[in-house]
Amino acid sequence: MADSSAQFRGQARLPRFASPLRYDLRLRPDLAACTFTGAAAVTIAVSAPTRFLVFNAAELEVDRASVRFQDLVPSEVAQFKEDEILVLGFDRELPIGEGVLTMDFTGTLNDQMRGFYRSKYIYNGESRNMAVTQFEAADARRCFPCWDDPAFKAKFKLTLEVPSDLVALSNMPVVKETVSGPTKTVYYEESPLMSTYLVAIVVGLFEYIESSTSEGTEVRVYTQVGKTNQGKFALDVAVKSLDLYKDYFATPYPLPKLDMIAIPDFAAGAMENYGLVTYRETALLYDELLSSASNKQQVAITVAHELAHQWFGNLVTMEWWTHLWLNEGFASWVSYLAVESLFPEWNNWTQFLDETTSGLRLDALAESHPIEVEVNHASEIDAIFDSISYDKGASVIRMLQSYLGAERFQKALASYIKKYAYSNAKTEDLWAVLEEESGEPVKDLMTTWTKQQGYPVIYAKINGHDLELEQAQFLSDGSSGSGMWIVPITSCCGSYDTQKKFLLKDKTDKIHIKEFTASQSSDGEKNQNIWIKLNIDQTGFYRVKYDDELAAGLVNAIKAKKLSLMDKIGIVEDSYALSVARKQTLTSLLRLLNAYHDESDYTVLSHVTSVCLSISKISVDATPDLNKDIKQLLINLLLPAAIKLGWDPKDGESHLDVMLRSLLLIALVRLGHNETVNEGVRRFHIFFEDRKTSLLPPDTRKAAYLAVMRTVSTSNRSGYDALLKIYREAAEPQEKSRVLGSLSSSPDKDIVLEALNFMFTDEVRNQDSYYILGGISLEGREVAWTWLKKNWDHVLKTWKSSSLISDFINSIISPFTSEEKAAEVSEFFAGRIKPSFERALKQSLERVRISARWIESIRSEPSLGQAVQELLQGEA
Ligand code: BES
Ligand code: ZN
Repeated sequence: MADSSAQFRGQARLPRFASPLRYDLRLRPDLAACTFTGAAAVTIAVSAPTRFLVFNAAELEVDRASVRFQDLVPSEVAQFKEDEILVLGFDRELPIGEGVLTMDFTGTLNDQMRGFYRSKYIYNGESRNMAVTQFEAADARRCFPCWDDPAFKAKFKLTLEVPSDLVALSNMPVVKETVSGPTKTVYYEESPLMSTYLVAIVVGLFEYIESSTSEGTEVRVYTQVGKTNQGKFALDVAVKSLDLYKDYFATPYPLPKLDMIAIPDFAAGAMENYGLVTYRETALLYDELLSSASNKQQVAITVAHELAHQWFGNLVTMEWWTHLWLNEGFASWVSYLAVESLFPEWNNWTQFLDETTSGLRLDALAESHPIEVEVNHASEIDAIFDSISYDKGASVIRMLQSYLGAERFQKALASYIKKYAYSNAKTEDLWAVLEEESGEPVKDLMTTWTKQQGYPVIYAKINGHDLELEQAQFLSDGSSGSGMWIVPITSCCGSYDTQKKFLLKDKTDKIHIKEFTASQSSDGEKNQNIWIKLNIDQTGFYRVKYDDELAAGLVNAIKAKKLSLMDKIGIVEDSYALSVARKQTLTSLLRLLNAYHDESDYTVLSHVTSVCLSISKISVDATPDLNKDIKQLLINLLLPAAIKLGWDPKDGESHLDVMLRSLLLIALVRLGHNETVNEGVRRFHIFFEDRKTSLLPPDTRKAAYLAVMRTVSTSNRSGYDALLKIYREAAEPQEKSRVLGSLSSSPDKDIVLEALNFMFTDEVRNQDSYYILGGISLEGREVAWTWLKKNWDHVLKTWKSSSLISDFINSIISPFTSEEKAAEVSEFFAGRIKPSFERALKQSLERVRISARWIESIRSEPSLGQAVQELLQGEA
């Protein structure tokens, strides 16, 4: 074993005695046969004595007879499928120094949306194939043999042989093209040092529009023929973002060009391939008339995110997937910075709290994981592209930036980018630079957030003249974990003018209230008018539980409109989470919500409605007798703002009001508000007859679709059929997604089943399954679960190779609310678990059990019924 090729099996990473310097790759895709052939010449450096070369290859046929290292022929060529490696054994030790490894290989253009794959599009009424790559995280090895690990950076020189009439793109600009009959050979410039997961190729029929940055970098958006108009918005955002990042990171855009392209079949939202960013169509294309305001935001955020990666990720790359969050958390955080500066009226930093909220919700599960997570096999990587890496990652960066100050933070980031350009970095490397530039204990502080899962809840109470604080790990199941954090505490009292900041390093600490009030004139304000808010503007990744007195003060402050938008969001989110964890009653949560009845801001109401919808759902199972009243209560809360906005857009109204209209109408439909459902149905009928009507613009369409689906049943299915017709006739993916997201929302089980089965037809792309899954009605839970069990083998086979498989688990299992169901689900999956969805399954089961316990506790609340009646009558 010691000297056999098998010694390299079962290792998390490749041995380091040989590393690639430069890949010379020639690929020839056959779009009709869906295969490709390739030839690789890899210059490698052998740095330690060995008679083996070990690298990655998967689903490739390597022509064994073609393999050479210099003029040496390997005596052994062993392919280990499970490990996705190829081991070449030579008779004697290889010479130390550089040499060239060559081989020929073939592969399939698969339909799994990873590696080198095919995507389908319609041209002139005919279906055509394009060839596309998606290599992150570990699928470059499915296209060519390589050291497929982000730390093995090398230069890439590609050559493609493709049909002469097609556009062939890669990371670098074309240096030469030769045409020979129906085939052309396209030669690309050699790239700078980069990781394998960022290599990209796209071959198909496209048109483009272009523009350039202030530094003269050419930027293009490629779309399907005739659609370039829809690329204009993204192009504009791209050019401006590149200029902004160049200044922010104090480093120019590293490549000679940037192309962005929409791919019809695409597993993720977008992929930051160096110089050739690929997108889902919905994440790149924007049409003034056909897209909604929320589509527009999504495009802007996605473009800004992927372009941030060109520095954070591509120029400086994580050393290993354990540090994935450095890529994703940072790109997410920086994208908000860019979009805030491009569209200040979107109030983007307040919207950032959506990210923080998702992070906090996931990280309150015992089945969460630390930001820095051990990765031992390629199959484990996909699962960490989750809310922890993205949303918690981005949120702890915001927390640190707010602690260090924006300017210091930016300067340190720029040094970090300079120091590690064309190279790799670990989390600790970033902390070291920040620590050096700021003189603050960044590493100690941040390690508690990145190496430890979870986060604290700070219990705050008044004791005489002290505000006493105590931290404990917050878990949604109501238990307290043993975690301890260094918590950047911020607080203010009675006004935002005096703020107090310090690091809570121990379990407990206290602040003298005088410290706040010293600088305020003591005009004899009564205690009840005093409010204390911790975690100002929710910059910290933690929750706060106030004692009754403090909580009452905050309710008054909300009513008196003294609090910032972010703080109002924080209070309702914390209160909801504490209620789920049974640290606070649902009764008190309902009373708190009542304080938001005058609210008219989109950013706040988006959190309020999300809490309302969760309450409405849980009450179906927890308090069926009260469900109708609770829904009415929530309707009463949201209705005034909705009535003010109406269904019709108003001239000159703000972007956020457009977003708010859509949000509220959807929520009212979901809560079963009759007038809204009826109006939605009425407008839908007009729209169905006249697609150009101004009565149902893209922003309110989803609400109308959902309204129609509330009225659909097997005996009255015309609404469902009408939606299918709209789906079939829609050319725009964003419109298609609105329909798909509605189809499964009927209260009729058979219709839900029909919608789920529709997902398996070739009318729905595999990439779009999650729209249907995300829309399943509460009434459809059971039928969806039965459907999933029955079709599990098919689902696994079709979706196994992307993180989309987790959506099936999450969407179908999480809505259940009983221990029995959790047990039934566990039993079904025993023996069926795979690394790609294992964590999603455990998390979903945990959510089910948390709901079960929450229900029990709600049922035992003595005064819930009475409080609901009081609130309904407006007495509270
Ligand atoms: N690097 C990711 C794409 C990716 C995700 C590759 C999962 C492999 C597995 C890309 O930068 C990304 O984060 N895309 C986001 C969009 C963004 C706006 C958050 C996505 O795909 O959702
Ligand atoms: Zn990303």
